[in-house]
Amino acid sequence: MRHILVTSALPYANGQIHLGHLLEHIQTDIWVRAMKAQGHQVTYVCADDAHGTSIMLKAEENGVTPEAQIATVKASHEADFAKFLIDYDNYYTTHSEENKEFSELIYRRLNSAGHINTKDIEQLFDPEKGLFLADRFVKGECPKCAAKDQYGDNCEVCGTTYNANELVNPFSTLSGATPVLKTSKHYFFDLPEFDGFLRQWTRDEGRLQPAIANKLQEWFDAGLASWDISRDGPYFGFKIPDTPADEPDKYFYVWLDAPVGYMASFKNLCEQRKDSTDPKRPALNFDDYWLAENAHKTEVYHFIGKDIVYFHALFWPAMLAGSEFRTPTSVFAHGFLMVNGEKMSKSRGTFIQAETYAEHLHPEYLRYYFASKLSDKVEDFNLDFDDFMKKVNSDMVGKVVNIASRSAGFIVKKYDGMLSTNNAEPELLAEIMRAGDEIAVAYENREFSRAMRLIMQCADKANEYIDEKKPWSMAKEEGKEQEVQDVCTVAINIFRQLMVYLAPVLPELTDNAKAFLNIDDLSFASRNEALLGHQINKFKPLMQRIEPAQIEAMVEASKGSLESTATTAEDVAPTSSTTKQATDSKANTADNQDADYIGIEDFAKVEMTVAHVVECNHVEGADKLLQFTLDVGEAQTRNVFSGIRKFYEPEQLQGKKVICVTNLAPRKMKFGISEGMILSSGDPKTGLVVITLPDECTVGDKLG
Ligand code: MSP
Ligand code: ZN
Repeated sequence: MRHILVTSALPYANGQIHLGHLLEHIQTDIWVRAMKAQGHQVTYVCADDAHGTSIMLKAEENGVTPEAQIATVKASHEADFAKFLIDYDNYYTTHSEENKEFSELIYRRLNSAGHINTKDIEQLFDPEKGLFLADRFVKGECPKCAAKDQYGDNCEVCGTTYNANELVNPFSTLSGATPVLKTSKHYFFDLPEFDGFLRQWTRDEGRLQPAIANKLQEWFDAGLASWDISRDGPYFGFKIPDTPADEPDKYFYVWLDAPVGYMASFKNLCEQRKDSTDPKRPALNFDDYWLAENAHKTEVYHFIGKDIVYFHALFWPAMLAGSEFRTPTSVFAHGFLMVNGEKMSKSRGTFIQAETYAEHLHPEYLRYYFASKLSDKVEDFNLDFDDFMKKVNSDMVGKVVNIASRSAGFIVKKYDGMLSTNNAEPELLAEIMRAGDEIAVAYENREFSRAMRLIMQCADKANEYIDEKKPWSMAKEEGKEQEVQDVCTVAINIFRQLMVYLAPVLPELTDNAKAFLNIDDLSFASRNEALLGHQINKFKPLMQRIEPAQIEAMVEASKGSLESTATTAEDVAPTSSTTKQATDSKANTADNQDADYIGIEDFAKVEMTVAHVVECNHVEGADKLLQFTLDVGEAQTRNVFSGIRKFYEPEQLQGKKVICVTNLAPRKMKFGISEGMILSSGDPKTGLVVITLPDECTVGDKLG
């Protein structure tokens, strides 16, 4: 039996779980379940990544402590993942005692081995907020092409990359203040010292996918640079230990303690399981999995997205190797989720949150669709709604479930649920059993699409067999009773094999099938014994078809909800060329997924109407919203929700003339239907001003 520890990347605690995260967690969960089904001892841990400036600011914006903020988000992340049947052994947080201890331990070991240096660096500082500004929190004019409103790392107009302090007329996106240059001492991890080690490590057999190893070669060729691991307070994170008394305010950069969170979550699990006698939740020994000297006994795998390879394949193994811990056996990277061939986009309704999906569609549809297209490659993944619906309906409903629904009725009605004692097609059953060997290998190699293809071939064989035997016509003939029972018994047995093969992907459906088949084991080994002379239960439909209306409703519900939930860029403040490479790729892929342009003809479609605020009220339970009743002329009123509560008391807007977009499709929100949008201007973080018009304007007039 192999002993395996598996992780998914730790989601940031400042945004909701979306389908992109789910691609990763579903991929990991399927692998974990498949490896467990083959009899290995597998432990799967994850956590929320709870530290950093973004989370601190988000808490401030919501008027709560960071601790309260991360607790709320963690509960919602856990609820979302549970809906998608992700079966962690532990879901923890990086803001934990265990994580603090391991982060300090690793740092101290690196420090005493001489791998930590300090250097004074100059950085932009927001004098109003009293904060050093990461690149994503500074904007200004591009030093090259003078485009306005560009971020501090690169220009979206001409593509130049530069340092934030080169921006012309820079301003802080947090306060609007003009930043000043300020010097402070930073702590650096000496990555270049690990160059030789990492070149070897990344080329070790099975460590990384070939595409990733090649990418790393480019980074080695460009030369590694020291990694800035400190941030000045105020910061939400762990203080760096052993700093001189006159500089108390140094914190670990969030990416230092984030991967240590894998260890901490596992350590916390070891504590929980200390006295366990349950073989399904066995006691675990931390040292077996993490001490360098035990690396041959156990295996550790990280599933991650391609945007965070730098952190997992360079910084993390170097940190571990420099502090006497074992390094991961392999790092498995996946590509990014696209929807209908494009980046997820709020305006198109394709930036879909886990919660929204689950309100409209069954999570196992998505699990199956992901499985049917995932491979061991780093390619991006296209979720095409049309293909999704066809694939699930034809494979799951049309092929797999159909086998049981076509044969169970006869067994239950005519034979009191009793399967035949005779195996009429030993060769066919043996063939499907043998396919299991290849399916198991495909799962282990993360070639899930291959596994699903093999499984569907088995399903096709079963359906062909039933079509050929036609039990429904035999049932009408005299003297064919035995044969009908035999044929249906073969079909049910194939169905049972398929349930074994699909169990890692469809845990709920296969659990229900267990009840129907009256069995309690779907491990891979269990497929070898045939169910003969065995009693089964009444068949209940195991999966419904997807209807197009469900997808339409989900897309509609995902269209730009007023409460912004996208993950903001993390506070990556690069201070060396190395981190720049790493963070650039992160910033470009993970965030700003919906930067698409509209033409003037699109803009001309927007109908802007002078409206009178008849009523304006707070909305119970929504701390960001105000609810408006607007007179928009022609004796029509509109109900509109607007996310400006932070900036206005209802009295301030009551009776005012405002501009309402009146041809916006109505949107169903948690608190009712919003039938328009009130125009305002400014920055939703620091201050929004509703555009008001002079009293003499006529209600109902169209602008533009
Ligand atoms: N907190 C860090 C990870 C720390 S791990 C020690 C982080 N968080 S994240 O929330 O931005 O992303 C978490 C994981 O989700 C990453 O592996 C990332 O690649 C993945 N994805 C986020 N958006 C994604 C898509 N649109 N598509 C596929 N995966 C995506 O990075
Ligand atoms: Zn430019």
